[in-house]
Amino acid sequence: MTAATNRTPLDVARVRKDFPILATASRGKPLVFLDTAASSQKPQAVIDALSAFYASGYANIHRGLYQLSAEATRLFEGARIRVQEFIGAADAREIVFVRNATEAINLVAYSWGRQNVGVGDEILISAMEHHANIVPWQMLCEEKGATLRVAPIDDRGQLVPGGIAELLSDRTKLLAITHVSNALGTINPVREIVELAHARGVKVLLDGAQAVPHTSVDVRSIDCDFYAFSGHKLFAPSGIGVLYGKLAHLEAMPPFMGGGEMIASVTFEKTTYAEVPRKFEAGTPDIAGVIGLGAAIDYIEEIGMGRIEVWEAELLEYATRRLEALPQVRLVGTAEHKAAVLSFVVSGVHPHDVGTILDQEGIAVRSGHHCAQPVMDRFGVPATTRASLAFYNTKEDVDALIRGIEKVLEIFG
Ligand code: ALA
Repeated sequence: MTAATNRTPLDVARVRKDFPILATASRGKPLVFLDTAASSQKPQAVIDALSAFYASGYANIHRGLYQLSAEATRLFEGARIRVQEFIGAADAREIVFVRNATEAINLVAYSWGRQNVGVGDEILISAMEHHANIVPWQMLCEEKGATLRVAPIDDRGQLVPGGIAELLSDRTKLLAITHVSNALGTINPVREIVELAHARGVKVLLDGAQAVPHTSVDVRSIDCDFYAFSGHKLFAPSGIGVLYGKLAHLEAMPPFMGGGEMIASVTFEKTTYAEVPRKFEAGTPDIAGVIGLGAAIDYIEEIGMGRIEVWEAELLEYATRRLEALPQVRLVGTAEHKAAVLSFVVSGVHPHDVGTILDQEGIAVRSGHHCAQPVMDRFGVPATTRASLAFYNTKEDVDALIRGIEKVLEIFG
């Protein structure tokens, strides 16, 4: 993509044609898909890459001397380089393929955490974390006699200024924080946060599951120690995710799982491990998933992340304005820097009822706690309804959502 074409606005009507599911119906109505934060839809390019691989390119990787296996290995390792370039990592060995962001965080908790965290140490997270960035640290703290600390958020769903600095101490071993909140949409100032933590000698893990699909990420300029994300939110297949780790950290860490492919040699007396990243990739991986992830990255880069950001910001602004115009609707999460996630409650109506009525209109949203129960507690609600947008959404989708909410209000009026 040249700089000139990158400046032209996103042609939403055209990109929608790349996603066959967006032309389908739900409950007899045209599908309005507003649940990308849970999982994104897949472009034809990704579907074709999977289909072509299974139809004529499939074999296990790193094992066969035959042509099919060599070619599958080339595609798989090529996708690793695509991921490396996409997030600005210095070295392809810093990219570990896992199942999803959850597994990436657990890998760090089990491997780095068990090696580096002991009695009396502290792990710092924030009050806006997804359960995937809470529970693994609770498990680690329980096992090691360490303490979990939580940086507070304000009524808009932003980190309280000075909150992290106040909680960082000589006992803090790791700061694990989300880049973009799945429940609130808040975008955290990760560069400053990393700088703050590093000044105290604290390592930083970022949960990038909701960031990577919507904004350019450069792990080298952010300077985080670990970065986790899922393929399925990035227009790639489900079942594939990425852990980025600085090479020196990954090399010093023990394996997470034992098995085939992660070894250099095995005898009953002693096993030596493969070099990174294979030390962390025991067993046959999701080969097609990795190839699909590479195809998804190619697709996104063809569109241009800059154009995606501009369009999603316009959609967010439009959707916020329209939702705020409904007096019965309260937005939960109104940070100054936000991704296109709109969590809301409708006065007097349970979010599950809102979701069910919207579903009858062909509108797919998520209603629930969004795997972030502490966030719901912070805002004093049991659940919210969440509309989450992607570049393939339109203002007409937002209009359909508003009409759906008006229907909810009529029914519960
Ligand atoms: N973490 C995903 C969500 O926010 C599943 O919906």
